[in-house]
Parts: sequence; structure tokens; C-alpha cells
Amino acid sequence: MKIVGIVGSNAELSYNRKLLEFIEKNYYQKFDLEILEIKDVPMFNQSEDATNSQVIQRLARKILTADGVIIATPEHNHTIPAGLKSVLEWLSYKIHPLENKPVMIVGASYYDQGSSRAQLHLRQILDAPGVNAMVMPGNEFLLGNVKDAFDQNGDLISEGTIKFLTLCIDKFIQFVNVAKAMNAPLEVKPQPEDLQARGKVDTTIEGLDKEADDWVEQAEAKVNAVSGKSYVKLNRGILTVDQLNWFLASMPMELTFADANNQFLYYNYTKPKEEMLAGRVPGQPGNPLSKCHPPKAYKNVEWVIQQLRSGKQDVVRVHVPKHADKYVVHNYQAMHDEDGNYVGINEYILDFNPIIEWYLKQTGQKLVGGTDATSSASKSDSKPVAPVADATSSASKEDDAPATKPEAPVVSAAPVADATSSASKKD
Ligand SMILES: Cc1cc2nc3c(=O)[nH]c(=O)nc-3n(C[C@H](O)[C@H](O)[C@H](O)COP(=O)(O)O)c2cc1C
Repeated sequence: MKIVGIVGSNAELSYNRKLLEFIEKNYYQKFDLEILEIKDVPMFNQSEDATNSQVIQRLARKILTADGVIIATPEHNHTIPAGLKSVLEWLSYKIHPLENKPVMIVGASYYDQGSSRAQLHLRQILDAPGVNAMVMPGNEFLLGNVKDAFDQNGDLISEGTIKFLTLCIDKFIQFVNVAKAMNAPLEVKPQPEDLQARGKVDTTIEGLDKEADDWVEQAEAKVNAVSGKSYVKLNRGILTVDQLNWFLASMPMELTFADANNQFLYYNYTKPKEEMLAGRVPGQPGNPLSKCHPPKAYKNVEWVIQQLRSGKQDVVRVHVPKHADKYVVHNYQAMHDEDGNYVGINEYILDFNPIIEWYLKQTGQKLVGGTDATSSASKSDSKPVAPVADATSSASKEDDAPATKPEAPVVSAAPVADATSSASKKD
């Protein structure tokens, strides 16, 4: 744990510095204490902004990177010294390094109740909105009669005082840990997903039966959708709807889109269900996602969508070991608009096997422990990585089989002679 101690005095010989040095020397096993001085900090003056001066920036940086702060304050005329107040003004004017920082107050002074009034004032100051520190409640350590408190080695003489100081220090360590937990970003509980798609987003086509087999045709008529040779302006280019279809159909993968309302709206239809990696049928677009999955898969589907919608993960990948000769991965990719709002899922289902085989052939490498990508990769011990299969679109029961962890194929260090390696040789 990293703590900084601020000496609230600018005197050459300061009992408050002595107190911090005692803490540094005696509690080093509990935390690292770095003692910071205020004597070089100029008097606060709003007309001569010194926020960017080295001395103030250094103080701020040290405070910001520390887990907590101990301020040792003297008492001058029943309050904190002007020098310390001035430092706190700099640290609450344009910068706020003490914001939410756990702070412990200690103080040393000449008289019996010395520093108690200063400590009270310091609490109030640290509570001001511009400072907004988290001051440890209670545990007020005040060291009165300081002239007689230390021996010639700078050690506190009174056993009772040391005992109480140790108690306060231990409480402060606990307080720092509690503050850390309080300052941690809140774990937001994911909202339940409505797989029935009963809600509405601004592109939802309303008033139609989502489960109708001709939903696409009904929707087309309702919104006067362009088709065929009509041009669509895209980012970046212009295509006809035909070109767009040909383009998407030629992608070497199965593509599916479900919108932010969990309505399945599109797949790049090229072949009958039986020939697809994850079977779909032309009547499916328009369906709520609940219709695309058996109820037993809802929990998994919901989990995937929550990951993507919340931004916890941008892509969820699942290996679905349904085909012996293939390495099929379902990739659920979050989609966002220009403002970063979640707008749905791009699911692409891809057999990685041809890509791996091509790569091995090109590089002259081979998989260790198998002759091909599939056999080696499918040697996985089938540990479920996430309870998921085909979040957006699968209709077939097989696609809801538990996912297995896609193991990265191990590539041996055989000699290579390919474009990539020879290119890098030139370097
Ligand atoms: C201007 C001034 C006012 C002081 N007022 C108080 C006071 O109100 N209460 C107190 O206990 N000590 C007071 N003292 C004495 C301080 O406790 C003493 O100087 C102490 O050593 C200051 O801490 P330092 O040694 O860390 O600088 C005062 C000292 C000065 C110079």
C-alpha cells in the first residue's frame, strides 16, 4: 500500500514532520510512506495561478498515485497553519487530487489538547466540495506536549501513545481498503433481455405479425423498401440493392443480423437450411429471437446479448463442434451506430478449417499433435467456455449444444518460405 504523508508545517524543525517520520520508520511493514513537504509551495493567489508549477504538480501527482494520505497538522491560533490551508486551496482550485482520496488526520502541538481544534477545521476543509476527500471518521490522533513526546532518536516515548497510534494506523489501512471498494466502478446488473422483441427501436416496423412466414414481404410493402436496381448510399460507396445482396451472399461465411430489439431481421440467404453451418429458413426474418431458439437455450442467448449490449465484451466467440471435418465458430459481434449506441448483433458463422489449412500450406508449418487443424483443435477436453450456442438465429437443436473452448492450433517451428517470412527477411 502506498501512502503519502503531508507535513502541514513549513518550519525547519517540525514536530509534525517528526511524527510522520516515526510512522514511516515504525510501520514500514504495513505500507510505504512517502513524506511530502509544503514549504516551497507559494501562497495561494488566484491572480497568479501556480497550478502548473512543478511543486504543485508534483504534490498532486504523488497524491493521485497514492492509496491514501496522512496529513499531519500543527495548530496555529486554534486552526491549521496558513501554509497548509494555502496548499489545500491550490489542490482544490483547478485540480482536485484529493477527491475521494482516503485521508487520515494526525496532529502534534505544544499543549494538552493541541491540534484538536485544527483537526476539526481540517476535517471541514477536506469536506468542502472542491476538495472532497474521504476523511477517516473518529480515530483522532493528537499528540500534545510534543516537546516531551520524542526521545533523542525521534521515537515516541509513551507506550500508550504508540499503542493508540498503531490502532489508528490499522484502522486507516482498513479505511483505505473500504474506500478502494467504494471508489471501484459499480458493477451494473445487466438488464433482462426481452427475447420476444416486444419493445421497439426507431427502425422497428410496427403493426406486423413478427412470426408470419411472409413478414419480409409485408414489411417491404409497409415501408416501401427499395429493391433490385435501386441505389443505396453506403459508407463509403453506392451500390444497388442487387449488388448489395450479391456482395453479402458472396461473403465466405453465414451472416445474420438481429437488432437491438432482439428481432431477427436478416441472413445472407444462399442455400437451403440443410446445407448451412447453422440452418435458417427464409420465413425466419422478422421473428423475435425467442422463436429462433428452444426455451432451454434462452438463458445462454440472453447472456451473449447482455455481454454485447453492456459493452462487457465486443465479440463473443463459440466453437460449435457439429461438423467433424470443420472448425465452425459462431462469432457474435456487437454493432454500434456513430454515437456508440448498441444497435444489434452481427453474427458470422465461419469454418476456420480452410483458412488454417491455407495458412499452414503457405508457411510450410504443421499442427503439432495432429495432421489437420480440426483434429488438433478438436482435441480440446470440451470444457464449456460460455454457456452459449448461436445467440441470434439458430433454429436447429444441435446448434444449442454446449459450446466448447476453441483451442488455438499449435504451430510447429518448421522452416518457412512464404511471402510473409521472405518479406520480413528484407528487414
Ligand atoms: C502563530 C502560532 C500559533 C500557535 N497556536 C497554537 C494553538 O492554538 N494551539 C496549540 O496547541 N499550539 C499553538 N502553537 C504552538 C504549536 O503547537 C507549535 O509551534 C508546534 O510545534 C507547531 O507544529 P510544528 O512543530 O510541526 O511546526 C502556535 C504556534 C504559533 C507559531
